[in-house]
Amino acid sequence: CGDGTQDDEAGGAAGDTIVLGFAQVGAESGWRTANTKSIQDSAKAAGIDLKFSDAQQKQENQIKNIRSYITQKVDVIAFSPVVESGWEPVLREAKEAGIPVVLTDRAIDSPDTSLYVTFLGSDFIEEGKRAANWLVQEYQGKNETVNIVELQGTTGSAPAIDRKEGFAQGIAANPNFKIIASQTGEFTRAKGKEVMQAFLQSNPDIDVLYAHNDDMALGAIQAIEEAGKKPGVDIKIISIDGVKDAFQAMVDGKINVVVECNPLLGPQLMDVVKKVVAGETVEKRILTEEGVFTQDQAAAALPNRQY
Ligand code: AHR
Repeated sequence: CGDGTQDDEAGGAAGDTIVLGFAQVGAESGWRTANTKSIQDSAKAAGIDLKFSDAQQKQENQIKNIRSYITQKVDVIAFSPVVESGWEPVLREAKEAGIPVVLTDRAIDSPDTSLYVTFLGSDFIEEGKRAANWLVQEYQGKNETVNIVELQGTTGSAPAIDRKEGFAQGIAANPNFKIIASQTGEFTRAKGKEVMQAFLQSNPDIDVLYAHNDDMALGAIQAIEEAGKKPGVDIKIISIDGVKDAFQAMVDGKINVVVECNPLLGPQLMDVVKKVVAGETVEKRILTEEGVFTQDQAAAALPNRQY
């Protein structure tokens, strides 16, 4: 194995080490760090030779890294696309080279599904809906206007697009919910804090923060506290991911609810890679299972959190 030809893959290459090229998005969040560790640990445990690259949230870097895996003739390429669009040319190159591609965590928007074997990851629209459902429940029976600010993830990325859409769908039936500001915080703590500061300056009356990930919520908490307000009380906070720091913030009363998004995709990815190399068919869409956690569940759940 290792020359990436169809013969090698079909033959199962008994005894040979599978070479997997993984083009990661970056290291923007606690979620991403856990995802990277899961992939590295699982590759090791599965005896797969992992070639790993970090694109620092830049599509051009990720494309370069994928091209390098094609040149190296790895057996399988997996990647988590930083944005949804613009992947066809490089994925066609992989296809022509006979190298199967697995999408993990984030999808692409191409209608040509022959460019990848499977997409393994969460349903981000569903996550946005779950976030909205909590809010609808929280304000049930009340008639007041609810001013919401939204910290979006990386512009053009599947989780930012879908979490925005799912949330908007979930609150659509209730005209009292108003999104008064919505801007990207690039999935990072620093940017989450910076944008929340700007939100607070221009909107004195914020009731709810909806953050597309925990890191931005945690950054925003600092901004809220520095503005002399109580996160979780004066401004209710809804977040997505479920990293330990967010659970701690729930225990401390600073985040109200976390919609889980599971980064521990490594074991499933290695199974898929082995199957693909062995010529077995895999499902075109492999969905991860996740929950929703509120403050009253946080203390009990915290010791068991794996990321
Ligand atoms: O694609 C998953 C998202 O990317 C996570 O929710 C976020 O934390 C990460 O940066």
